[in-house]
Amino acid sequence: MSLATQYCWLMLAPEFSNLVRKSQRTTRYLAGLRGRNEGVTICAPLHSLNSYTIRATEELLYYAQRQGLMTQATTIDGKAMAAELSAEISAATAKLVANGKAKPGLAVVIIGEDPASQVYVRNKKRTAEACGFNSVQHTLAENVSQEEVLSLIDDLNTDPAIHGILVQLPIPAHLDELTVTQSIVPEKDVDGFHFQNIGMLTSGNTDGAFVPCTPAGCMLMIEDQLGKDLSGLNAVIIGRSNIVGKPIASLLLKANATVTICHSRTGDLPQVARNADILVAAVGRPQMVKGDWIKPGAVVIDVGINRIEVEVDGEKKMRLVGDVDFAEAVNVAGAITPVPGGVGPMTIVMLMSNTLQSALRA
Ligand code: GUN
Repeated sequence: MSLATQYCWLMLAPEFSNLVRKSQRTTRYLAGLRGRNEGVTICAPLHSLNSYTIRATEELLYYAQRQGLMTQATTIDGKAMAAELSAEISAATAKLVANGKAKPGLAVVIIGEDPASQVYVRNKKRTAEACGFNSVQHTLAENVSQEEVLSLIDDLNTDPAIHGILVQLPIPAHLDELTVTQSIVPEKDVDGFHFQNIGMLTSGNTDGAFVPCTPAGCMLMIEDQLGKDLSGLNAVIIGRSNIVGKPIASLLLKANATVTICHSRTGDLPQVARNADILVAAVGRPQMVKGDWIKPGAVVIDVGINRIEVEVDGEKKMRLVGDVDFAEAVNVAGAITPVPGGVGPMTIVMLMSNTLQSALRA
């Protein structure tokens, strides 16, 4: 059977906003199909728009994918989005300073020698400087005592030149992470880890809270694809961490998505994932999410940053990969974030955004 004879769908009546959004994502595929098969037509009697026709369309998309007729997903360019936001933050900072106020001040504390943390902190410092911030780094020895860490945070809490404080995680095991993160005053907690900020976020009061940077960046990318109102869409999050999984669930819920959080004890994870219009992978397992876990047309946000060894021309090299198998997923998803160049740059720029907000409130 040819695609041309199987196919029906599309309407754009505003009262069917969920379907419209679904159809917009579907249209990308259809445009691709039409490009390769002139016979494909889209028709849409209003009465045919029910769960059956939606399902039928999804079936068609699976079919098209299996036949190699599907266009590739849009790659969400986190680096470009972050660069745009960074330019806006730089402009706002210049205005602040021109009005006689202090530059936003960001203090980053790094404890120990973790190589990945050193890279992240260097990038944060570099971006803060590029935004025109007062950027301060405190590098503490691996064996620093908890009292010394708390004393430094105390000083930063009361320093008027500092508007944002971040202790890079993970920290050495002899330090109590909860005590350290909760010792930062909520007004300077630009990571959004303080219970006061978490409470505001989970109660839907995001205006006065600092939202954790990675989830905030992910939401901007999701909004860019699907708009601000996610009514009628299923969001599935793989990973229940305090830094990503739980806060992004709160943000998606606030945007009216129907949210499922999965974790290591979830039964039949691929089946649950296949139900997602929005799939967020934040589990820390390289390339775990395969193409057949993804609903055709879904927006896939890959939070993972994993280093794996690969062989290139007989030579072993290290490569960064996400939690999603990009090569497979790109043939099924409607839009997907790459690794690197997706969530990572957005996380850093959201830290700058939070620090600027804090300086504006000071
Ligand atoms: N380590 C990995 N991600 C983060 C983050 O968002 N904030 C801090 N402080 N440490 C991290």
